Amino acid sequence: MAKVTEEIKEAYNKIADQYSRELWDDMPYNEYLDQFASLIKGNKVLDLGCTMGSFTKYISDMGFSVDGIDISENFIAIAKQKVKTCHFYVMDMLKMNLNKKYNGIMCINSSIHIEKKNMLFLFKEIKSMLEEDGVVLIILQEGEGEKYIKEPFDETVEEFVSFYTPEEIEEVFHSAGFTILKKYKIKDDAEFELGNDQLAYILK
Ligand SMILES: C[S@@+](CC[C@H](N)C(=O)[O-])C[C@H]1O[C@@H](n2cnc3c(N)ncnc32)[C@H](O)[C@@H]1O
Repeated sequence: MAKVTEEIKEAYNKIADQYSRELWDDMPYNEYLDQFASLIKGNKVLDLGCTMGSFTKYISDMGFSVDGIDISENFIAIAKQKVKTCHFYVMDMLKMNLNKKYNGIMCINSSIHIEKKNMLFLFKEIKSMLEEDGVVLIILQEGEGEKYIKEPFDETVEEFVSFYTPEEIEEVFHSAGFTILKKYKIKDDAEFELGNDQLAYILK
């Protein structure tokens, strides 16, 4: 496992309980999840970096069959306990072996912990795991570069985060074979966010 991934796993394992308690009811992305869901043709959805499964559950409650993966075993243990309708796996999104294709894949604020040098690989993997006409919802941090930031829940924990300009990330999407269906800018106003605006895309 890459050093950055090891660090992220450790960081989220440490804060998983508190994060899950405080953010279970925090659903700031329902508008984008609803848009994404309305464009899915079929029933199978994958949530990459699902934390405690609250967004996974939101999509599952619409009637989709949803799998969630996360690198943090503590988050996956909580998700398995809280959301009985979905399947959850401890898995690195850079080393997925689900042997299954999906009609929709969502990646909400989790690819922000992937090094830029691996982002095209990740999006090619996502593309290869989509059924024909499959769609992707991705939300990431707007900005430039890559850096370590203090985790909002625990200032003693530092996390690697990558930031993208729209041009930069759109180049990755196009190189991986995606077309942009919808594009949004989300203004940062959340207590536990990182202080940046976010970029949201629905891709196909
Ligand atoms: C900022 S949290 C947010 C995720 C959640 N979708 C949300 O918006 O509330 C990022 C999540 O991505 C997971 N993650 C980071 N890198 C990962 C990787 N390489 N593979 C799988 N999960 C990863 C972390 O463990 C964490 O649960």
